[in-house]
Amino acid sequence: MILGIESSCDETAAAVVRDGEELLSNVVTSQIATHFPYGGVVPELASREHLRAIVPVVRKAVEDADLQLSAIDAFAVTQGPGLAGSLLVGITYAKSLAFALSKPLVAVNHLEGHIHAVLLEHRRSQSAELAMPALALVVSGGHTHLYLVNKSDTIWSYRNVGRTLDDAAGEAFDKVAKLLGLGYPGGPIIEKLAVRGNPRAVAMPLSQIKVHRKRHDLDAEQVYDFSFSGIKTAVLRFVETHAMSNAIESRKTALGRVHESRTYDDVQNLDQLTLDLIASFQEAVVQDLVRKTLRAAQRFEVESLIVSGGVASNRRLRDEFTSRAQAHGLRVFFPGRGLSTDNAAMIAAAAFPKYRAGDFADIHVSAEASLPLGTR
Ligand code: KG4
Ligand code: ZN
Repeated sequence: MILGIESSCDETAAAVVRDGEELLSNVVTSQIATHFPYGGVVPELASREHLRAIVPVVRKAVEDADLQLSAIDAFAVTQGPGLAGSLLVGITYAKSLAFALSKPLVAVNHLEGHIHAVLLEHRRSQSAELAMPALALVVSGGHTHLYLVNKSDTIWSYRNVGRTLDDAAGEAFDKVAKLLGLGYPGGPIIEKLAVRGNPRAVAMPLSQIKVHRKRHDLDAEQVYDFSFSGIKTAVLRFVETHAMSNAIESRKTALGRVHESRTYDDVQNLDQLTLDLIASFQEAVVQDLVRKTLRAAQRFEVESLIVSGGVASNRRLRDEFTSRAQAHGLRVFFPGRGLSTDNAAMIAAAAFPKYRAGDFADIHVSAEASLPLGTR
């Protein structure tokens, strides 16, 4: 029975998971309302909100699981990557619980957590075999990473074979939504509006990755890195050359007036050109993610694909991955929608094999804002 705690970004979460697969509780509180006026996460405000939420969130996770704290066998916590001040809140609280109750503490990498969000549900459902090795795309507000995933006995291993060179995909969704006056977070609102636009209406650049000199033994086709700044700039140029700024300003003003609504979803008032731009942007990001991931899957001859992280809840991305992977004879696995975005069930699930292997954290463990996962 592992209690997981997650506080790396703007969600305070706690969950109890039995045997690494059975979800007994899953509590997530979001800070969207706090950060909304700034159009992005403000680190100082995030730590303060985590401090406020951590005790009630953990208490609720234990209550929802119908347990006493003394029934927990180990405490698991996100060590990184993430915002240092936010991570520290979760780590300090998890340490205190482990110390007070004389139970082990397990430190978990947030990115490994996202991968285990899929493995957790899969172990439970037993629907189709998730054969190893797998290629995992972790695609969120902070990361766009490709990992080769393998398992021997109970030990999981990861090799980072691709990463974003600039913005993460989720960050690009957030920045484009902010630029167009659509609110925050950008992913869900862009997904909702994109179905009303024509994804082929506005030409978007294919991301061009310059091959680093150190890696001159590779050609561009063998590089699985991502870059979304070109697509973001194309949106900005389009806005500048199509006299869209007045409409954007009036949406921003409208958003500023309504406090409960955090995104602009008055579709009736959005002109077709803006809807087409939104759909074309989403399509460009989706195509880039799918194309590079499938290319890497072929190169590394993997048996399955895992797609996880906040952006993995995007319906268009899921559909495109599912159909294109099928054409390559690959099965693709996603987390259920509730486990795509940040949560603590994925942290407790990732901690389970470590718990069984006796891989416990020292009481002096601290936050690691740029903690890498696996080897490169
Ligand atoms: O995994 P997550 O909750 O937090 C991080 O670890 O970053 O991901 C949040 C990110 C945000 O950038 C948000 O805009 C994006 O995921 N996102 C989406 C969707 N839902 C959330 N992006 C595209 N489509 C969505 N439906
Ligand atoms: Zn995340």
